[in-house]
Order: sequence, then C-alpha cells, then structure tokens
Amino acid sequence: MCGIVGYIGKQAAAPVILEGLSKLEYRGYDSAGMAVFNGETIQIKKSVGRLKVLEELTHGGATMPGNVGIGHTRWATHGAPSDVNSHPHYNASETIAVVHNGIIENYLPLKEKLVSKGYQFVSDTDTEVLAHLIDYYYKGNPLEAITKVMHRVQGSYALGIMFAEHPDQIFAVRKDSPLIVGQNEDGCFIASDVPAILKYTRKVYFIENQEVVRLRADHMHFYTVDEEEITKEPVTIDWDADAAEKGGYEHFMLKEMYEQPKTVTDTLMPRIKDNDIVIEELGMSDDEIKAIKKIFIVACGSAYHTGVTAKYIIEGAARIPVEVDVASEFRYRKPILEEGTMVVVISQSGETADTLAALRESQKLGHKVLGIVNVVGSSIAREADNVMYTWAGPEIAVATTKAYSAQLIALYLLAMKFGKVRGQIDDATFIDMLESLKKLPSQIEMLLSNKERIQRFANRYVGAKDVFFIGRGIDYAISMEGSLKLKEISYIHSEAYAAGELKHGTISLIEEGTLVAAVATQDALFQKTLSNMVEVKARGAFVLAVTNEGNTDIEKAADYVIYIPKTHPYFTNSLAIIPLQLFGYYVAVGKGCDVDKPRNLAKSVTVE
Ligand code: M6R
Repeated sequence: MCGIVGYIGKQAAAPVILEGLSKLEYRGYDSAGMAVFNGETIQIKKSVGRLKVLEELTHGGATMPGNVGIGHTRWATHGAPSDVNSHPHYNASETIAVVHNGIIENYLPLKEKLVSKGYQFVSDTDTEVLAHLIDYYYKGNPLEAITKVMHRVQGSYALGIMFAEHPDQIFAVRKDSPLIVGQNEDGCFIASDVPAILKYTRKVYFIENQEVVRLRADHMHFYTVDEEEITKEPVTIDWDADAAEKGGYEHFMLKEMYEQPKTVTDTLMPRIKDNDIVIEELGMSDDEIKAIKKIFIVACGSAYHTGVTAKYIIEGAARIPVEVDVASEFRYRKPILEEGTMVVVISQSGETADTLAALRESQKLGHKVLGIVNVVGSSIAREADNVMYTWAGPEIAVATTKAYSAQLIALYLLAMKFGKVRGQIDDATFIDMLESLKKLPSQIEMLLSNKERIQRFANRYVGAKDVFFIGRGIDYAISMEGSLKLKEISYIHSEAYAAGELKHGTISLIEEGTLVAAVATQDALFQKTLSNMVEVKARGAFVLAVTNEGNTDIEKAADYVIYIPKTHPYFTNSLAIIPLQLFGYYVAVGKGCDVDKPRNLAKSVTVE
C-alpha cells in the first residue's frame, strides 16, 4: 500500500525522501511523487511508474532544493495510476500539499460540497478532497484546519501535510493507517514504516489513531484531534539495519526463505522452558485455558492459511472446536461469538485493515483478542488484548515466507499448550512433539540446501498456464499456501483443492501435461491422496508429489517426488512448504517477474 516519507531539517529533503521511499517499495505502488518547499513555493514532481522515474525526473532530488518536504508512493484505489492522480495533491493556490495513505469513505459528498463552493478538482482521487478541505478550513492556523478536517472525514488516513505559509513545519496525522515519526540531531522524519528512516534514527514514535504531530527541524509536538497537546514516549528499534537489506541475495524473498531456520528458532526456543511451553504473553491461567469453548481464528492471505493449519492441529491436539475465517468476511457477517470463545487474529504486518477491523469487532462483542503479530508496535499489536510476537524480523518481500513459518510455530505452541493443559496430550507425546519442534530448523535448512534440484524442476514450468495443488487435512492447508506463493509472484493461474473435492468439478480442467502438485504428508490420509493422484495422472496430469521420507510407494503415482524429513504429523507444514516456496520463487525468476514486488500487490494491505 502507499508509502509516506517526510523530512524537515538541515539536510536537503528530496534525497532523504527518495531514499526513504525506496525502503518502502516493498509495500507495493504504481506511482511516486514529492513536494519540497524551495524557499518561495511548494514544488511538486510526480509520475506514474517506479520510483526510478521520479529519481530521473528530479535528478536524484537535485532539481528540488529545500529542507522541507513530503513524498509518497501510491497504490491506486480511487482513480487509475496516472501522473495526475499521483500524490502529493495541492489546493488551488498550490500553498498546501498533502500525501495520503488510506481511503476517505465520504469523499464524494465532501467533493460535491466543495465543488458547490467553487473548488475545482483535477484528479479522480479521494485525497484531493483533503487538500481542498484543509484549504477551506485554513485561516492561518494549520493545526486548527487539520483537526477540523479530521472531524469531517470518515475512513482511514495517514497524512503528510505542508503549508507554504509555514515552511518551518510539516504535519503528520493518522487514523487506521500506519504512520510513525522519528528524530535525530539533523531533523525530524515521517514514515509509513520503520525501514524508511532506520538509516537516520532508531528512536521512533508510533502515532495513535486521531493524533496529529507538528514536526519542526529540532522538535516535535503531539496533539489530540481536539488540539490538546500530549506527550508520547519514543520506542527504540533494535533491528539490525542490515535486516532490511538484501545482504548479497538476489531477492529479499530468497534471503527471507533462507532466514527461516533462524526465524523458527527465535519464535520457538524462548517459549520452551524445562520441557514445557511457557507463553507468558498469553495472559491466561490454566483454568481460563480449560474454560475455552471455541476458538475463532481470523486473518488474511497466508496468515489465513496458517489459521487453517491450526484448525486441524488445535482440534486434533486440544479438542477445542476452531472456526477460521478470512477477515474481510468475518467483519461483515455478524459473527456469532458465544461466551467462552477466544479470538485469535494473525498478521505479519499488524496493519491489515480487515484483520484490524475483525479484532475491533470481536472486542466490541465483548471478547478478548490474542494477536499473533510480527511487527512490534503495529496497530494490531497495540490494540489486541494480548500479543504473541513472531520473531521473524522485518519481512520485505511482498510474498511472505519467514513470517508464515514463524506464525506456524506460534500456532503449534498454542495448540500444544492448550492440549497439555486440557489433558489431551500425555507427557510422553508432549516431549516427543517438543523434540520434533526443536529439529525443525535444521530440517528446514536441509530442504533449503536442495534448492538447485527444485530450480531445475521449476525451469520446466515457466510456461505453465494452470497449476493445481491438492492435499487432505493439513496437506490441504499447505496446498493453499503453495498455490498462493506460485500465483502471486509468477502470475501463473493456480488453485488449491482439497484432494477429495477435485472430482466434483475442477478435474475437468486437467489436460495432458497440466502440473498437479500433490502434498501427502499425513500417513492417515496417504492412501486416499494417492488415489486422487492416480485419478489426475490418468487424465494426463504431470504429478509432482511432496511426501515424507520413506513413502516410496508414491513413486507409482507421481512423476516427480520431493521427500521431506520425518517430523510429527502436525508439523509437516513447516517442512513441506519449503520446496513449494522455492518452486514458486524459481518459476517467477525463470519468467523474469519482479519477485519482491509483484504487480498489483502490496505488502501491507491497509485498505479494505
Ligand atoms: O500482514 P498480514 O499478515 O496481515 O498480511 C496478510 C496477507 O495480505 C498476506 O499474507 C498476503 O497474502 C501475502 N501476499 C502472502 O504472501
């Protein structure tokens, strides 16, 4: 989604903004722009296309002198990607410039009102309404104008705003879209996310909903929507700056896949103590765990897929009924959350608009929410009643890999903890499962070391039209993620099916040579999946199978087999997904796709 960077200080603003925006490229965007105060006026340059177009247009920022500016990468919502729809947007006299991430839901009635008062619009965006509305309320006091606008608009927004009449200030505003501010000895910064300003400062302030920040070169002031000044505590970011760099890998996605053994270790090991699982952040006593009647897991995309895996494990290991829902459905379907229902939301970014809304909806209905979140200090992390962090570090590639693996670990730990406390897992099994968990990092490493073989196989499929992934139980959940990995970065049509469901319609799409990836890691379901493989092979499919070491029977039905090391059946997802991630990655690389920044996608989906 859109990225915002702003700077006011001793340095030239444009290069700082360009550099910051480049660190936000992972969020996904289709155009970029900057506004810089040049001593007399606010100069704006913007263009559809990649950031390098803006860099060329401004000669790396050299043609936009000045120490105060705001910049933006736009992911189009209202109005097609075009120069004119790109941000920043001006008021008519070009004395106010605005960049925006989010959606102004009531922009049409506001636009009509403004038009009736003589305002003229040049773009199709909702954002331009903000520029004109600020202009309408502006009587010399920027803070007053901004807060009046905040009272009028509905929707979500993170804003960077500058006024030609107040060139010693920029403003940052937030509601339901992420925004942080930071400061060093040279100046102050606005950014949508930490990596944009990590080079300059590690001390950041997370802006809460409906707060306004006035940034000057040497200090910042925070205000409520009612213009009352407030104090805020900074948070020190302790990431290694290199964590947000490629570190010699061709793509962030490859680097992040290779970080999975560490991610799994970091999420797992601090929570294993004396052969027990200790999840302090859960904030639940054993009695409370025993009283859970149902668990609702809500998430989007890959995080949803980890929820589907968790359903099988929690129901199997803890005997608690689990319902899993995609957040965009959950929030509007009047979910029935009975007493005793625990809600778990899962999100890498902690900013996904639908997941955040689902969290709020659950809290409104009187339920406590556990957030499984990667980004420390994100909206979901702050609003959830309890937070279990996945310690995956910054994930930059749009296609998630390491955060997905970390989420699985967090969910395994929850399932085992609940199973043990509720007397569903005996001590011997529990210890056996813990041992299996501890082996996962080295097993993942081993699978990653096999990448050349997968690459050779993937190269054969760069021209594929359709690919199907099938599996049963947990293998179905793995198939969903394998399919998403392939399609989101390679643009090859792909679907995941519960293996037994394929013959209820979809099997008619199988033609000579169609690739079907069958995941068969669950011994109890092995023969059933094998039959489904035979069915598709008989109709001409080329069958790739992913199964456990030793299951050589599969070679009768498969054309190509990838074996994963033995683990507990509940944990096979963590291993089977590795070759599928590599497969998706190498198909995309083979096709020459922009692997880290796939078209139309955003890393952090902050609009619904
Ligand atoms: O940040 P979140 O985990 O809430 O994001 C959820 C989805 O948008 C995300 O998993 C998405 O599906 C990725 N592109 C998958 O690779």
